[in-house]
Amino acid sequence: ANYNVDRSRGQIIDTLVEGITKLEYRGYDSTGIGIDGENDFDESSPVKEITIYRQVGKVGQLKAEIIAHHPDISETFHNHVGVAHTRWATHGGVTQANCHPQPSDDHNQFIVVHNGIITNYRELKTFLKGEGYTFRSDTDTEVIAKLFKYYYDKDPDLEFYQLAKEVLYQLQGSYGLLVKSVRYPNEMIATRKGSPLLIGVKTEQKLKVDFVDVEFISDDKDGQSSTTSGGTLLTRPQKSTMAIRKSESRAILPDFSKPIEFFVSSDASSVVEHTKKVLFLEDDDIAHIDNGELHIHRARRSAGTSTTRPVHTLELQLAEIMKGGYDHFMLKEIFEQPDSTFNTMRGRVDFKNSNVTLGGIQEYLKTIRRSRRFQMIACGTSYHSCLAVRPLFEELIGVPVTVDLASDFLDRSPPIFRDDTCIFVSQSGETAETMLALRYCKSAGALTLGIVNTVGSSISRETDCGVHINAGPEIGVASTKAYTSQFIALVMLALQVSNNVIDNRKRHQEIINGLKDVPMLIGKVLKKSAQIKQICSKYLNGKESILVIGRGYQFASALEGALKIKEISYIHSEGVQAGELKHGVLALVDDKMPIITFATHDSLSPKVNSAIQEVTARDGRPIIICSEGETMIEKSKTSAIIEVPTTVDCLQGLVNIIILQLMSYYLSVEAGNNPDRPRNLAKSVTVE
Ligand code: G6P
Repeated sequence: ANYNVDRSRGQIIDTLVEGITKLEYRGYDSTGIGIDGENDFDESSPVKEITIYRQVGKVGQLKAEIIAHHPDISETFHNHVGVAHTRWATHGGVTQANCHPQPSDDHNQFIVVHNGIITNYRELKTFLKGEGYTFRSDTDTEVIAKLFKYYYDKDPDLEFYQLAKEVLYQLQGSYGLLVKSVRYPNEMIATRKGSPLLIGVKTEQKLKVDFVDVEFISDDKDGQSSTTSGGTLLTRPQKSTMAIRKSESRAILPDFSKPIEFFVSSDASSVVEHTKKVLFLEDDDIAHIDNGELHIHRARRSAGTSTTRPVHTLELQLAEIMKGGYDHFMLKEIFEQPDSTFNTMRGRVDFKNSNVTLGGIQEYLKTIRRSRRFQMIACGTSYHSCLAVRPLFEELIGVPVTVDLASDFLDRSPPIFRDDTCIFVSQSGETAETMLALRYCKSAGALTLGIVNTVGSSISRETDCGVHINAGPEIGVASTKAYTSQFIALVMLALQVSNNVIDNRKRHQEIINGLKDVPMLIGKVLKKSAQIKQICSKYLNGKESILVIGRGYQFASALEGALKIKEISYIHSEGVQAGELKHGVLALVDDKMPIITFATHDSLSPKVNSAIQEVTARDGRPIIICSEGETMIEKSKTSAIIEVPTTVDCLQGLVNIIILQLMSYYLSVEAGNNPDRPRNLAKSVTVE
């Protein structure tokens, strides 16, 4: 939204298209924008109609679509609101009708872009159909646009944010929403629940306040769990909402004669090039941008909600999210790991005195140490980082540690106790299932701790305490540097929590010495990239299936390695616990099945060697990843041997996984895929 600053239609389109281009890395299947068009909406007023451009496919195709329609790109606006969206289908197929913005009617009176899922959309749709509305898409979002029109028609005197409140009252599920309307020209509603949303403020003037006061607009006891059923709307209790006008709230109130622009996005990457001043919306915030003012109202009063939203200064540099000389972000991120792993430890590990201090958990350290159990919850790669450190937690802290996939955890709703410490690991800090699990554990009274990469993300804000992994932005959809940094953050956590136990002293020293060398050892493995590429072309390219075997500390490496391969090369791959071979997987083994085995030296080496023999006895010829100078393995019965430098057993996975990251990358490129954007996958999955 821009105020008191002249922008041509062409510039507005460019800003929107560039903004959503920055979000491409999150994964999408279609795009759309909505701006003020060329004609007046009706004869009685000079308000412009809203024009929508939508397209299945890439952002570039959207631009082509706009150009094809030849809008007058030179017309200049002094004040303007535009919205844009990249969609990753949840409800409804990938069609143009299902793209966002979704309009309320054929005249685009209200248009909505939405990130999330409205779970009661069927009931709302039934209701609206009964009221004579015709639906043009299969999306849950269309009901939101139509509800705006429905409530507007009932009471056209409502202010935009009051109208939004009526609509939000009916919605169940999650959303990050932007709404634009011809009925409220040059105004915008931005609101969220369960999906991220932030507002960048660009202005030459000094903001009068470095935070925004939030206005509580109603005293009704919302939040009761009622449902919309049978196609009727919930009836809102009558209360004082209307009495409070927006002029009573304090907010960003600039000098109206000066230019100001607001950039609302679910992701900082599309905002940083315009401004570094951002504020993060909380669940149930309704941000109302109107005439250069930003007011934040609350959809419902919830206990303990802060009344201020601080304006943060983003540290993220756009250059950081560029490819920096590599063919793909993923390769860049793999090669960044000597730095990113070091950054995770920077200022936290005292190598001289063998000590770890994690600032983000100090206040809760006593409570954490009193925990009777650690419950770790995550999805995808983040889940594997939990598995990788579970044995160390068990060893050093000596209490039970459970590790769950967030989705399975939610399916089971298992017992969680007040004396549990629940750890949520997430690169993005926005993954829907992990968020929901966090809320579940919080409501059970457990202590919640986040291990997150994205500063300011929902998980980092909603947990009681936590550790940022400081790996820097990760753009490649397949997670690489976040994995090694999560791994290290969790190791540091285990060390910090257990460093009051004298018996642990020696082991602590050994691990901290090991940590010091990890960045250098990763650098050494990266030098093997040419050998790895060669092995891929000789034994793995174009195969239908690849088994990855490991046990103990390397079981997590096997699972994570197999995930990398399937994610980006589209070759089926399975991570196998070496002890489980004889319980099924051996049936797949013959001289053709490609098998990669982690056999670096540790206390389980004899058992791993037995597994290798089980494989070679069935004519399998595995590719072995082993410690430098290993002599136990019979080389003649292997396809290839990749030697890696040895470190402490519990850190070896950090070194070993690099091999599989590189392998998956080369397999992907060789197959002609784009490793940064694997088909059907998204970087940040903010819907359940
Ligand atoms: C998606 C990504 C994965 C990631 C997972 C969990 O599936 O494609 O790379 O591991 O989400 O994401 P999180 O941000 O919570 O770590």
